[in-house]
Amino acid sequence: MQVVSFCCNWCSYAGADLAGSTRLEYPAEVKIIRVPCSCRVDPLFILRAFERGADGVIVNGCHPGDCHYSTGNYYTRRRMTLLFNMLDFLGIERERVRLDWVSAAEGVKFATVMNDFVKQLYSVGELSIKLGRTLEIGKSAGRASPTPTAEIPVVGDRLACPENLHIVFPQIAHEMLESGEIDTVLGWQKGELPYETAPAFFSTPDELQNFTHDSFCGANLSKYLVENSDKKVLVFLKPCDTYSLNQLLAENRVKRENIHAIGIGCSGMLDIKKIRNAGISGILDIKDDGDTLDITTMYGNSTLPRQNALLEKCLNCKGKAHMIFDAIIGTSNDTTSSDKFAPVTELEGQKNRNDFWRSHLSNCIRCNACRNVCPACTCKKCVFDNPHSGVAAKVNTTEFEENHFHIIRAYHVAGRCTDCGECSRVCPENVPLHLLNRKFIKDINELYGEYQAGETAELSSPLLKFDQADPEPNQEGGSNV
Ligand code: FES
Repeated sequence: MQVVSFCCNWCSYAGADLAGSTRLEYPAEVKIIRVPCSCRVDPLFILRAFERGADGVIVNGCHPGDCHYSTGNYYTRRRMTLLFNMLDFLGIERERVRLDWVSAAEGVKFATVMNDFVKQLYSVGELSIKLGRTLEIGKSAGRASPTPTAEIPVVGDRLACPENLHIVFPQIAHEMLESGEIDTVLGWQKGELPYETAPAFFSTPDELQNFTHDSFCGANLSKYLVENSDKKVLVFLKPCDTYSLNQLLAENRVKRENIHAIGIGCSGMLDIKKIRNAGISGILDIKDDGDTLDITTMYGNSTLPRQNALLEKCLNCKGKAHMIFDAIIGTSNDTTSSDKFAPVTELEGQKNRNDFWRSHLSNCIRCNACRNVCPACTCKKCVFDNPHSGVAAKVNTTEFEENHFHIIRAYHVAGRCTDCGECSRVCPENVPLHLLNRKFIKDINELYGEYQAGETAELSSPLLKFDQADPEPNQEGGSNV
């Protein structure tokens, strides 16, 4: 049994020292790591400890109100509460983690807490047996065989575009490019097949010949603004995309004066995966009349109710209002049909959460598409690209690495994620990654009050605040102020 105890320098470490100097006994399994303050403990440290063989991790800091840096441990409390809840959501026993407050005068308490924690860990057993299994590269557990589909790249009629926006948008772009008001246009370009519409920059009027707008413009364009943040850009944003733009502005990742944002009408975007899952393959053309999809395939014609092919994010639409814009073109229809937190609540109530996540995360091929497309993932150098991390630019080699990557990815956008659903949309293995983000959003709402990232361009994440009355991490065995 290996136990890592992170102790803040000013109270808990001194408390541990006092326990030692007064010859109080606590288990030899406990390895202490001194940190300047409990808020220095990044969730990454905790996961790395588990990855390197720890069976339990305990974070110790000064009592609330006594932090050497005044408020550090209040932030720790929020962070650890969310992290512990997430570990529990993934089926990693809550008993393996604990947050506790130990002052410099509490040598007895330090020893008592360590004895109690280690006893608790022995009752749940070693973690390495359950999570440290080495994967056979390319043969992840539970991986489903891909269904072969033969498709002929024939370009048919484009999707009907409501209100002829596919004509209006390039006209506006053309005028603004020619007048020199903007340097480039961020929109969508045609692909080989009718559902391969993709984000693109258009820097000359000629390039606009490839501009399109159709029902497969699901991609959130806000993220791409970061690439050209020093240029004047005309961008077309659906209502949900404007939340991401606000968040990027709040974090100073883009400059408002360089962006001309046209809010565009949206009636829900289509998901090609859902069309294929309906058994329709060999797609040559798709016509969208607003209610029904008329699909021409190499095997004949098919129809599908439009509602059945909407992107998951459109079924949980945040509303049709644009949060930020310079102009709005087109009208929007509400496509909400479900409670977005219902799948999270259902999973929280299941005992086999670990099996659920293992069956999905074991399909992860670490292509990084979820990270690269995420409008909230904009660090110049991602922690997962750090060559000293041991996890940079590599496939997962253990089950724990699979969990590790996705927990940290979701954690790093907690309080910043606008729930745009891009991570799940682009995942080639259909891992329901948005559920991890929604778990954080749900917990933040329940614990710290309703919050929607990107509603304004002000920085106001609940993880950047605290309340002295915040609850302690809800762990069995109780917490301990
Ligand atoms: Fe002890 Fe901040 S210095 S928790």
